[in-house]
Order: sequence, then structure tokens, then C-alpha cells
Amino acid sequence: MGLESIKYKKGYLEVLDQLLLPLQTRYVKVMGVEDGWKVINKMQVRGAPAIAIVGCLSLAVELLKDDDTNDKKIIRQEIEGKLNYLVSARPTAVNIKLAADELINLANTLSANEAISPAEFKDRFINTIEAMLTKDIEDNKAIGKFGCEAILNGSTGDGSVRVLTHCNTGSLATAGYGTALGVIRSLHTSKRLEHVYCTETRPYNQGARLTAYELVHEKIPSTLIVDSMVSALMNTRRIDAVVVGADRVAANGDTANKIGTYQIAIVAKYHDVPFYIAAPLTSIDMSLTTGDKIKIEERPDREMTHIGEHRIAAPGINCWNPAFDVTPAALITGIITEKGVFSPDKLKEAFVI
Ligand code: MRU
Repeated sequence: MGLESIKYKKGYLEVLDQLLLPLQTRYVKVMGVEDGWKVINKMQVRGAPAIAIVGCLSLAVELLKDDDTNDKKIIRQEIEGKLNYLVSARPTAVNIKLAADELINLANTLSANEAISPAEFKDRFINTIEAMLTKDIEDNKAIGKFGCEAILNGSTGDGSVRVLTHCNTGSLATAGYGTALGVIRSLHTSKRLEHVYCTETRPYNQGARLTAYELVHEKIPSTLIVDSMVSALMNTRRIDAVVVGADRVAANGDTANKIGTYQIAIVAKYHDVPFYIAAPLTSIDMSLTTGDKIKIEERPDREMTHIGEHRIAAPGINCWNPAFDVTPAALITGIITEKGVFSPDKLKEAFVI
């Protein structure tokens, strides 16, 4: 059984507090949009798909609590305001922005339809949000299958592969199964994964705390390295592919992902190691032509200067803490989506299949 980061029953939402992992397993109740914004902003829940799903579900919870509003125009207006507020919790991952735009369109259509009562409006709207949970898992399984095939086809030997991943893209970052970690899971279940290396992923340690936790939980053969070991790893041990996730992919394939991804892509290019992005179409922002237009979130210094309550950096030092970087399309072998694997310059085709 995979780890469950999001627990939802109609009107009831809990998220696994990822700030406490791997030492404590505690769920936090999300009673509405305000709580949704907080758990996303504080990174108690994180990972682009999970951010979108939790944000939207927090709105569903809030709508289910409110039985008093019977004016469709007011419901529509509130929906729009609350979705825009949720999008502001973290700016780089595009999934929540695209989900919000779609839901605002839906709310506009439902509120304009005179044949639909306020109760039916809410019902249909909430059902659409709830469907995100199953759709995300289905998409991740398709990503896993396509990614597994692409990595095996691209590897030189007939045997099993050794891969490297960065940050956390597993069950904890999604509704379940995972994107890049879903590909690794799929290689493992096909008995074609020899070994996976995961980076520590400073400063927030998603690799050491969360990916390592998932890999150990699933008994996948794995080794943790610190971020600065990637070039030594590729120079001294066989690595067949790198597979990482995405927070926002621009139309030309430039990809924003966890800070440190860009340097791994450069090292992979130097060592001739295929470098894959695994992401659902909901992480692709066709409105941005290139990656330099992606807004990069900067996080508080404290995430760098402290580990938990323990200060590790010299007091008084200046810090720069961008949470993401942008890997240029030229360094990316393929973008693995639920529709197949696309070279960055053919990304448009993913939307017409
Ligand atoms: O800051 P985080 O932990 O939300 O960053 C997460 C990542 O960068 C992931 O690689 C990305 O969101 C994809 S998760 C399936």
C-alpha cells in the first residue's frame, strides 16, 4: 500500500504533514480555503500536483460547509476569489493555476445556465474537483508506463537500469503513485530497476526526508547521496538515466523544477546520460513561450540556516533561497507525460492526441 498524503471523504480533508516526516506521521485537518492556503504555503503539503489537488479540495470542503448561500452569482464570485487566493500560496507550480482557471470557467458556465439550481451548481462543481484525485493517479500510472519504456529503450544493455532522481515526486507529491517516482516504481515492478539514487535535495531535504522514506517503504533498492555528489556518481558508477519532475514546463520545453535540477542536467549532458522530465499535462504552461518567463519562488532564509530547530549556518550570513531553477530544453532528452514521451520541441503534439 502506497503512502497516502491526501485523505478525502466528502467534505472532510486531511493532509499528511510533510514537515514532520520521516520522524512523525501526523495528519492535519483542512477545514476550508484558509487552511488550504496555509498547508500549501508552509509546505506541509508540497509537490505541484498535490498543491493543486489540496487547494481545490479545500474549496470543495468550504462549499460543502456553506448551506446558506443560494444565489448562484454570489457562489460564482466567491469561487473565483477563493481560487485566486489559493493560487497565491506558491507561485511556481502551474498545476493549481491551470486547475483554478478551468474551475472558474466551469463556475461561469454553471452560474449562467438557468436550468441549474444553486444546489446542483455546487454539486457539479464539487464533483469536478473530487474527480481530480482519481485522474491524477491514472495519469501518473500512464506516465510510469511510458517512462519505463522510454528509459529501457534508451539504455544500452538488455538488463536492469540504474537511475538518479531529485527532490520528491512520489505518492507524497501527488494523489498517489507519483510522476518521476512513478516511473521508478514502474521500472521496479517490471523487475528492470537495478538501483535508484536519490539526492538529499537541500535546503528542504525532500530527497533525504521524503523520497528516501518512500523508497524504503516500498523496498526499492536505493541509495541516498548529497547534492554535490552527482558528478562524482556519474563519473564513477553507471547511471542509465535521470528522471525528475516539473513544477512548470514552458511551451518550448524549458522546465522549472526543484533547485539543483539544472546542474544535474548539465552533469548528465557531459556524461551522456539521458535526462527525462516526468510530468502530467497539467504541469505544462503553453502560455509561456520560454522558461525565463517562469516566476521563481524564493523561500525564507530559515530553510537554509536551520534544520528543524537546529541552526547550522553562521548567524549574520546573507542567504539566497530560490526554491526552483529552470533547466533549458536543450538539456532535456524527453518529457514523459500521460500521453507519451515528447522531445521538448514537439511538446505541442501532446495536446492534440
Ligand atoms: O518545493 P516542492 O517540494 O513543492 O517542489 C517539488 C518539486 O520540485 C517536484 O519535483 C515537482 O513539484 C513535481 S512533484 C510530482
